[in-house]
Amino acid sequence: MRINTNYHQLSGRYLFAEIAQQVSAYKAAHPEAQLIRLGIGDVTQPLPPAAINAMHRAVDEYADTKTFHGYGPEQGYDFLINAIIAHDFVPRGIQLDRDEVFVSDGAKSDTGNIGDILAVDNIVGITDPVYPVYVDTNVMAGRTLRYIPCHADNDFTGDIPTQHLDIIYLCYPNNPTGAVITREKLAAWVEYALRHKAVILYDAAYEAFISDDSLPHSIYEIEGAKQCAIEFRSFSKTAGFTGVRCGYTVIPKTLKAEDGTSLNALWNRRQCSKFNGASYISQRGAEAIYSPKGQQEVRDIIGRYKANAAYIRQSLADMGLTVYGGQHSPYIWVSTPDGEDSWHFFRRLLNDANVVVTPGEGFGTHGEGYVRITAFGTADDSRAAVARIKKIL
Ligand code: MLT
Repeated sequence: MRINTNYHQLSGRYLFAEIAQQVSAYKAAHPEAQLIRLGIGDVTQPLPPAAINAMHRAVDEYADTKTFHGYGPEQGYDFLINAIIAHDFVPRGIQLDRDEVFVSDGAKSDTGNIGDILAVDNIVGITDPVYPVYVDTNVMAGRTLRYIPCHADNDFTGDIPTQHLDIIYLCYPNNPTGAVITREKLAAWVEYALRHKAVILYDAAYEAFISDDSLPHSIYEIEGAKQCAIEFRSFSKTAGFTGVRCGYTVIPKTLKAEDGTSLNALWNRRQCSKFNGASYISQRGAEAIYSPKGQQEVRDIIGRYKANAAYIRQSLADMGLTVYGGQHSPYIWVSTPDGEDSWHFFRRLLNDANVVVTPGEGFGTHGEGYVRITAFGTADDSRAAVARIKKIL
């Protein structure tokens, strides 16, 4: 037996596992420390009551042979797919067929697994800094990566490449920089993809944080995108489902590979063989967030996180730090003081302030000189973290 030696090319640990390990080691050595964790983008607010009630009802259905559920459709239940199309796309002028939406257990799995249906010799364009899942899963597959530098001068949206790429990962609002992309810039990426017969893998997990109507929530708001883009969405950051697990992926039937093969058909084939569907309970919970009550509750939760983001952003700026993001995103991307090494600043914040953030270098070379702070903590923790950071600067 031999292993997939591509795994030897990965960095030692997954970024958030590495941070968790360093934080655990610190905690073991300093059990009295009251850590504030603003590193991994994990939510803290309770789920919307509409989702809780729907999931309770769904659990009760399992108690009776008449309402019991076994395996569900690999693609997801129609009740959820219909709600997704009606609420997330139709109001933006996007028509989708039911079989263009695949419900999943979250965007992380799907952005990684999508590589199953794409050839290993595709050249992959990865924005840098980037959500490490895109890098790791392509390294595992043995694909060649080309990095697209993202920095303040290009608004963290990358310059349109002059060389050929087959696959391009884009994520807006961006993880980790919190940047957004304008309609015009996204249209330029779509134009590039159509010209190069490339596919854009568009991660829109944070679209619910957009509060400027001129910004696109979906890549399908751009003409031509249905011929060149797959979109990933998640209920994790919208409705607090990081632990519940539910998301979805849109693959238009008009999206074809160079040889004419339908990516929609291929993904369906892949899912039927490798995936048994997200749980009925989580899908009922997700459906409930589209009810008028659920929508209001989600808006309230996101409003809390956005208030944290605004507070953190403004407070750090007041301390003289250069800050990005945090306006249409739960992430604040902060220049380290005096260009301090990002892992060094991470350790200084951990040791001296007991605040956990994410070092920018962990997201790629162009993340060096920054740290990422999440607004997903509680309001109290966000305020306390800012006060502690102020003290050590
Ligand atoms: C992050 O912190 O970047 C995210 O929480 C990771 C994820 O969504 O998987």
